[in-house]
Amino acid sequence: MTVDLPDLGAMGAFGARIAALLRPGDVVALSGGLGAGKTTLARAIIAGLGHVGEVPSPTFAIIEVYDPPAVRLPLVHADFYRLKSPREAEEIGLDDYREGAALIAEWPECAGGFADEPGCLSILLKNTGLLKNTGLLKNTGLLKNTGLLENAGTGRIAIVEPGDDWVGRLP
Ligand SMILES: Nc1ncnc2c1ncn2[C@@H]1O[C@H](COP(=O)(O)OP(=O)(O)OP(=O)(O)O)[C@@H](O)[C@H]1O
Ligand SMILES: [Mg+2]
Repeated sequence: MTVDLPDLGAMGAFGARIAALLRPGDVVALSGGLGAGKTTLARAIIAGLGHVGEVPSPTFAIIEVYDPPAVRLPLVHADFYRLKSPREAEEIGLDDYREGAALIAEWPECAGGFADEPGCLSILLKNTGLLKNTGLLKNTGLLKNTGLLENAGTGRIAIVEPGDDWVGRLP
């Protein structure tokens, strides 16, 4: 499933939809290159869970924890970019943090990936502007005439792959 995220408002709405569906044990695995929008979507989900105020990027802390009543359910927000090997995810006690909580994972591949878990919603974010620059879309005459490509400089798309627990529960 692909979701168009042309601007920050769309990002916020998508995050709110995910937040409304999220259950303890779930993982939202956010992949995509530098600046793809992973933290932006994570913040939208955390806001959708009820959190008010700043959401620090866990780039340096690696893990940030949110607990009720400030949020609807216990949540772990992790950015695994700085891990040197998936083993380090165990060493920092990820499994303990995850007990009874949902997990939002940025750079999930650095922690060994979560796609084998039925509760994993895998989301790959892509900058449609970059796609345009690759020339991949050059020959799509149909798209061109809609003017959609001209406005594709800043937006994102999300390629969503649901684990079994997410079938029939798609955001
Ligand atoms: N759908 C969107 N449309 C336009 N701009 C966006 C969108 N999503 C995110 N951005 C902008 O892209 C920039 C990078 O976003 P963000 O920090 O969330 O990326 P990231 O994937 O977490 O990057 P990093 O891996 O470097 O931490 C931000 O300035 C953000 O406002
Ligand atoms: Mg980030």
